[in-house]
Amino acid sequence: MEQSTHGATAARSWFLLLSLATTAGVLRVRGQSTGFVSIDCGLSEQSGYVDDVTKLPYSSDAAFTNAGSNHNVSAEHVKPSSIKRYLSVRSFPDTGTASRSCYTFPSIVPGSKCLLRATFMYGNYDGLNKLPVLDLYLDVNFWKTVNISKADSVHTAEVIAVIPSDTVQVCLVDIGLGTPFISGLDLRPLKNTLYPQVNSSQGLVLLDRSNFGASDLIVRHPDDPYDREWFPWSNLTKWRVISTKEKVRLRPEDAADVHFDAPSVVMQTAITPINASEKINFSWDAEPNYVHPTPRYTSVLYFSELEPLPRNAMRMFSVTINGMLLTSRYTPQYLFSYAFYGIEHSYSSRYDFTIQATTTSLTLPPTINAAEFFSVISTAKLGTDAQDVSAINAIKTKYQVKKNWVSDPCAPKTFAWDGLNCSYPTSSSPRITSINMSFGGLSGDISSYFANFKAMQHLDLSYNKLTGSIPYALAQLPSLVELDLTGNQLSGSIPFELLKRKADGSLTLRYNNNPKLCDQENSCQSTEKKNSTVTIYIAALVVAGVVIGLLLLLLLLGVIKNKALVKRHGKPENEADDLQSHSKNSDGCGLLQLDNRWFTYLELGIITNNFQRVIGRGGFGVVYDGFLEDGTRVAVKLRSQSSNQGVEEFLTEARNLTKIHHKNLVSLIGYCKDGDYLALVYEHMPEGNLQDKLRGGDGNIGCLTWKQRLCIALESAQGLEYLHNACSPPFLHRDVKTSNILLNGNLKAKVADFGLLKAFNNDDDTHVSTARVVGTYGYLAPEYASAMQLTKKSDVYSFGVVLLEVITGRPPILQTPEPTNIIEWAGQRLGQGNIEDVVDMHMHGDYDVNSVWKTADVALRCTAQVPTQRPTMTAVVAHLEECLDLEGSRFAGDINGNLNSSSSGGESNTSYNYYGADHYTDISPSNNTLDMGHNFGSGVATSPATR
Ligand SMILES: *[C@@H]1O[C@H](CO)[C@@H](O)[C@H](O)[C@H]1NC(C)=O
Ligand SMILES: *[C@@H]1O[C@H](CO)[C@@H](O)[C@H](O)[C@H]1NC(C)=O
Ligand SMILES: *[C@@H]1O[C@H](CO)[C@@H](O)[C@H](O)[C@H]1NC(C)=O
Ligand SMILES: *[C@@H]1O[C@H](CO)[C@@H](O)[C@H](O)[C@H]1NC(C)=O
Ligand SMILES: *[C@@H]1O[C@H](CO)[C@@H](O)[C@H](O)[C@H]1NC(C)=O
Repeated sequence: MEQSTHGATAARSWFLLLSLATTAGVLRVRGQSTGFVSIDCGLSEQSGYVDDVTKLPYSSDAAFTNAGSNHNVSAEHVKPSSIKRYLSVRSFPDTGTASRSCYTFPSIVPGSKCLLRATFMYGNYDGLNKLPVLDLYLDVNFWKTVNISKADSVHTAEVIAVIPSDTVQVCLVDIGLGTPFISGLDLRPLKNTLYPQVNSSQGLVLLDRSNFGASDLIVRHPDDPYDREWFPWSNLTKWRVISTKEKVRLRPEDAADVHFDAPSVVMQTAITPINASEKINFSWDAEPNYVHPTPRYTSVLYFSELEPLPRNAMRMFSVTINGMLLTSRYTPQYLFSYAFYGIEHSYSSRYDFTIQATTTSLTLPPTINAAEFFSVISTAKLGTDAQDVSAINAIKTKYQVKKNWVSDPCAPKTFAWDGLNCSYPTSSSPRITSINMSFGGLSGDISSYFANFKAMQHLDLSYNKLTGSIPYALAQLPSLVELDLTGNQLSGSIPFELLKRKADGSLTLRYNNNPKLCDQENSCQSTEKKNSTVTIYIAALVVAGVVIGLLLLLLLLGVIKNKALVKRHGKPENEADDLQSHSKNSDGCGLLQLDNRWFTYLELGIITNNFQRVIGRGGFGVVYDGFLEDGTRVAVKLRSQSSNQGVEEFLTEARNLTKIHHKNLVSLIGYCKDGDYLALVYEHMPEGNLQDKLRGGDGNIGCLTWKQRLCIALESAQGLEYLHNACSPPFLHRDVKTSNILLNGNLKAKVADFGLLKAFNNDDDTHVSTARVVGTYGYLAPEYASAMQLTKKSDVYSFGVVLLEVITGRPPILQTPEPTNIIEWAGQRLGQGNIEDVVDMHMHGDYDVNSVWKTADVALRCTAQVPTQRPTMTAVVAHLEECLDLEGSRFAGDINGNLNSSSSGGESNTSYNYYGADHYTDISPSNNTLDMGHNFGSGVATSPATR
C-alpha cells in the first residue's frame, strides 16, 4: 500500500497550466487551445460543432481514418434528450474476422501521458438489431473488449497511457461477433505527473470513476480540465450527502508534483453513513476478458473534510480493500483534498471497500468524496521498426495493396500482414524479414523502397507485371538470401552485385520468364560501352555501364516528369520569373521522396575518368569533375580517408539533401557508399564559388557588377530562407560563407555544403546547443562562439558577413595591419557616412548608391550583437529585393534589365517587421558580448573550409 497526494484546485489555474503545456507542443491538432482532439464518428466530412455540455468543439472523423462508412442511428433511438455525438457512427463491415480498422492521431509529443476515450452507442444503425462485440487496441497493445449489451445505452472505453511515438492509433478489431462500429473518440493530454501507476509499460483502463454524493449529472469539461467523466453515485437509503459551496483545493505542498487531482466540484460533495455508527461499504466486480482472464486492478480514493468541525470533534477512519488495510488512521483536512491509491490489487472477482471510523473517533462517522477504479493493462509491446513501417507503407501505396494491410505490419503477431514474415526480438521492435507479393498483380517498376528493409532475407515478387530494371539498391541489402523475380516483364541487365552474390552462393536469385532481361549469356544489343582505359576487369565495367545507362534514363524521365509538373502548375521557368517567385512557394519539404541514385566506386571511376580532374579540395576531401553518360556535368565529392568530416557528417549531408529541394540550394544527384568509400555526386557549378569571384582564386577579381552581386546575395538569402522556414523541423545551415555559395553557368547562386546542417528537434525549440563549435572563423555569431547556442539568427549573422564581403570585396578578417573584423571595419566607416571607402573599388562606382547603402544597412543589422535585433531571413529577402529594385531603377528601359523591379510583386511586398519579427529569445548578451576586436586569439575551434 502506498499513499499519495491529490487535490482539486481552481479550474482556472489548471487551464493556465494546460495551455502552457499546449504551447510547448503537447498536441497541435485542430488548433484547440487545450490540446484536445474530440471526434464525433460518422459525422459528415468537414462538419463540426461545439458540444453544449463540455463546450468542446467536436469534428468529423474523416481526417483520422480512411476506413469504414458513416451511418445514423435508427429513428427509434433518437430522443429529444439524445446527445448529438451518439447519433452517428462509423462502422467497418466486410473486413472479415481478425481484421483491424484504425484511427490515427498525429502530432503527439512522444512519451506524453494521455487519456483516450472511445464511446459506442449502437442505436440499430444498420437495422439488423444485432449487438456486436469488438476488441479495442491502443497501437499494438490490447485495450479492452467492448460488449454492446443494450442498443440505446452508451458504452465507454477509457484508457490512460504513455504514448511512445508521435502518433497513436486506436484500432477496432472484428472478432467475428458482429460488425465493429464507433460513435466517438476523445484524446486528452494529461499532466505527466498524474496517475503515477501509468508508465511506458503499463496503462490503466477505467472501470468506474465515482463522484459520491453528487446529483445526477456527469461532471466533465470545463469543470474537469482533463475532461474525465465523473459519474454520480449516491444511495439515500444508506448514505447522507455532505456538501460545501467552498472550493476544495490541493494542499500547497502537493501542487507542484501532483499525482491525483479531482475537480473541485467533485470534491465538494461527499457521503457519510446515515447511521453514524455504521461503516461506508461499496464494491466493484472485476471484468475479466478472454485476453486478461485475471486482470490486476488499482484504485484511487479521494478525501476532503467539507464541514468545519467543532473544536472537540474529530473525524478519523481506516480504509480497507478486501480486508487489506490502505490506511488505519486518516483525518481529512478541511477544504484540502488528498488521495490514497492502492497499487495493483491481485486478482479477485470482487473488490469490497470499507471505510470505518476508528474507535477513538467519538462522534463523527467516515466520509468519502470520490473514487476511481481501473484495471491495469500492459502497453509494453513495441510496434514494428519505424524504417520498415515507412517502407512497407510506401509499397502498399505504390501498388495499391488491398489485403489486410492496416495499422502495424508485424504486431501484434496475430495481426501480422498477409505476405510478411517478421522477427520479434525480445527487447526491440519487430523487423520485417520476408515479403511475399507473388501473384499480387503488381505493375509498374520495382519500388526502390524494397531496398530499405535492412533485415529482409526473402523477397518474392514473382509472377507479377513488373516492368523496368532491377534496382541496383537491392544488391545492398545485407541480409537478403533469396530474391525471386520470375515471371515479370523486367528489362535491362541484372545488377552485377546481384550476379556476384548469386555466383558466390550467398543469394538465391531467380529471374526466369523475363523476356527482356539480359544476363551474362544473353547480352543486350544497344549498350556496348568502351571504357577501356579504366582498370579492373572488363566484364564488370560493361555491366556497370549498362546499369548507369538505365539509371540515367530513369533520372532523365524523372527530370522530364518534374518539368512537366512545374509547367502544369504554371511555375515560372526563366530567370526573371525565378527572381519573382518568393521562396515561400517552393516545393514542399521532406515530402518529396527522391529515389537517389547509388553509385559504386567503380562507377565513380568511370564518371570521373579515373578521378583525373580535381576541381576543389576541402576538409571533406577532394572534389572531382565528371560526366554522366548523358553528358551531364557533375561534381563528385569523395571523402578522403583522413578527412575530419566523418561518416556521420557525410550521412547527415546525404540525408538532408534528399529532403531539401530548392532552386537556390545545390542539388544532389546521387551518392556512393561502397565499403570505405563515401562520395556525393552533385550538379556541377561551373562558375565556382562566390569567394573566388570576389577575391581571386580564379584570376578574375572583382569581375562581378553590383547587380550581379545583389542577385547572388538575394538568391542565397532565398535558399537560406527556405532552409529556415519551409521545413519542419527547420534546418540551420551553420556554415554560411562565401566559399559555400556556388555559381552556375548563368551566375545563379546556390548554397552548398550541408555537412553541418542541423535540424531543430522541435518547432518550439529556440536554439540548439552543440557540443563543439563548428562553422568557420570570421563568420561565427558571438553567442555561438561564446555559449554554443545556435539559432536561425546565427545563420543570419554569418549571412551579414557575406553581404559585407559582397559590398567590400574584402575577407571577413582584414589585415589592416592588425587583424580586424569586417563588421567593425565597415561599421566604423559607414558610421561616418563614408561609403566610397567601403565599396569594392573593382566596381568602379558603377552602382546605385542608395542600393549599396541599403544593402550595407541590412548587413549591419544582420550582424547585430544581440540575436533578437537581427532580422529574419524572410525580412532579409524582402530587403534585398528592394535593394535590387533601387539598382534596377537605374536601368529603367534597359532591355537587358531582366532583373527589374517586378521582383516586389506577389507576396513579397507584404509588410514585414524588420526587428524581432520572430519570437526567439536568445541568451542575454550582456555578459557575453564579444568584442570582436579583442577576441581573435581566444582559441575558438573552427573547422576548415570545406571547399
Ligand atoms: C445523418 O443525418 C444527417 C442529418 O441529420 C444527414 O445530414 C447525414 O447525411 C446523415 N448521414 C447518413 C450517413 O445518412
Ligand atoms: C457479452 O455480454 C453478454 C451478456 O451481456 C454475454 O452473454 C456474452 O457472453 C458477452 N460476450 C463476450 C464475448 O464477452
Ligand atoms: C511501470 O510500473 C510497473 C509497476 O510499478 C513496474 O513494474 C514497471 O517496471 C514500470 N515500467 C517502467 C518502464 O518503468
Ligand atoms: C441502496 O442501499 C440499500 C441498502 O444497502 C440497498 O438495498 C439498495 O439496493 C441500494 N440502492 C442502490 C440503487 O444501489
Ligand atoms: C445503527 O447501527 C448500529 C450498529 O450497526 C445499530 O446497533 C443501531 O441499532 C443502528 N441505529 C439505528 C437507528 O438504526
